[in-house]
Amino acid sequence: MTEVKSIWRAVADEPLPHELLLLGDENPALLAAYLPQSQIYLLGAPRTPIGVCVLQVRREESEIMNVAIAPEHQGQGLGRRLLQHVIGEARTQAPRKLLIKTGNSAIGQLALYQQLGFELEAVHYDYFLRQYPQPIWENGIRCKHQLVLALALHDVSPSFDFDLG
Ligand SMILES: CC(C)(COP(=O)(O)OP(=O)(O)OC[C@H]1O[C@@H](n2cnc3c(N)ncnc32)[C@H](O)[C@@H]1OP(=O)(O)O)[C@@H](O)C(=O)NCCC(=O)NCCS
Repeated sequence: MTEVKSIWRAVADEPLPHELLLLGDENPALLAAYLPQSQIYLLGAPRTPIGVCVLQVRREESEIMNVAIAPEHQGQGLGRRLLQHVIGEARTQAPRKLLIKTGNSAIGQLALYQQLGFELEAVHYDYFLRQYPQPIWENGIRCKHQLVLALALHDVSPSFDFDLG
């Protein structure tokens, strides 16, 4: 089991693990578009991160744009820990809903996200055929459709209304 040194939010100008970011999202143009408007969380030791997670906080709903663990460290619970940390960060900053999107072929990712409480909300058919020039195959399945999963961060209950007075 890999020992997790820490999880921290990258500061401005901190070198980012681009190889890991490209592992989580193969489209460099999309990456370049969302990184400047996102919070980047790193896992590992300073200067040698082995995990990355990108969170975009928005007014209506936030989104985990990217998550990746270095291949040699996968399958040891680190992805789950990093996501749990970022969900906690989103909960303190964000509105009611947190989104994460993936492909129809991402079997392991779908298992993990649902274990963390995310539920399927929408399907964007043929998204990966339109947005990604190279065909993507995983688990012997062509990745074609984008699945949108959502996690409720704050339940609005009668007691919440009562607290507002
Ligand atoms: C997705 C990813 C971040 C998960 O990180 P990880 O450290 O490997 O995952 P964990 O060890 O925390 O696994 C947690 C759970 O995920 C699920 N899971 C992960 N990989 C799986 C696989 N290949 N098959 C089935 N389930 C899998 C399991 O449910 C697992 O729980 P379990 O160990 O109790 O069975 C990592 O595999 C990764 O970087 N993949 C490549 C990049 C990527 O696909 N990013 C997401 C883009 S949408």
